[in-house]
Amino acid sequence: MAVEISLEELDALCNAIKQRHGIDFTQYESASFARRVSRAIDYFKMDNLMSLWQKILSDRNFMFDFVDAITVGMTSLFRDPQFWRTLKTKIVMTEFKNATSVKVWHAGCSTGEEVYSFGILLQDCRVQEKYRALATDLNRNSIEACKKGSYDTLTMAQNEKQLKEYNPFKQFKDFYTLSGDRNYILKPDLVKHVEFKVGNLTTDPITSKYDIIFCRNVMIYFDDSLKRTLLDKFHDALNPGGFLIIGFFDSLVNVIDKNKFEFYDLGSKIFRKK
Ligand SMILES: C[S@@+](CC[C@H](N)C(=O)[O-])C[C@H]1O[C@@H](n2cnc3c(N)ncnc32)[C@H](O)[C@@H]1O
Repeated sequence: MAVEISLEELDALCNAIKQRHGIDFTQYESASFARRVSRAIDYFKMDNLMSLWQKILSDRNFMFDFVDAITVGMTSLFRDPQFWRTLKTKIVMTEFKNATSVKVWHAGCSTGEEVYSFGILLQDCRVQEKYRALATDLNRNSIEACKKGSYDTLTMAQNEKQLKEYNPFKQFKDFYTLSGDRNYILKPDLVKHVEFKVGNLTTDPITSKYDIIFCRNVMIYFDDSLKRTLLDKFHDALNPGGFLIIGFFDSLVNVIDKNKFEFYDLGSKIFRKK
């Protein structure tokens, strides 16, 4: 049975983690964060919150295992296929048609499906050479998975379906090699324009400027105040006219500053820096 965690317990845990390890979960959206902590207790085969708490505070290595367990992300290739079609026709083929170089940041890239999807799209448009990208995630295991680009049969069925919805003329077999009968390895040249790095969105300084920032299905875990802080950071990090792309489940309605961002394509959740 899942361990129930009260909001007071969650608050106290987040504050203790922040003080002991300097990792700040205090502004994550409480209900979904509580569910994740409860799942982590189960995953580490512990009986209660106290055991988890003691282990986190006494063992820094375990702290990172906990971060990995808590942040593990649901993702897939060409998640929301309609979005990828819009991205191709309205942005890559139109806004950046004449650009000589385009810089991209995939913030919260999880196990890499979003990054490989964009690689396929860029090759599809024959423009990969002028793109440079950084892909970051808090979860170390996810970044390792990105670098390997290896996915199993179960996720591949869903991936193949969505690739076809993005572009029915694409053959999925052109993008992977099969190792054994279950292990699909996406072709490394799809992400040759990308550097993968572990990074914390909420605490790390941003040192570059970007033309496109993907932050899809990440802010879902953050409360309004953290969303506002991040939006300011993204605004500073975008070049004039740059694009911020969020996920279908993300909601910025209450927090977006309309003096800083305009809605570029509301259906696809694409915003543009003013
Ligand atoms: C649901 S996945 C989204 C993956 C991908 N962007 C997509 O939409 O398919 C959310 C990711 O956000 C990452 N994440 C959560 N908090 C983060 C933070 N503070 N810094 C960086 N990444 C974070 C998680 O580790 C997870 O991999």
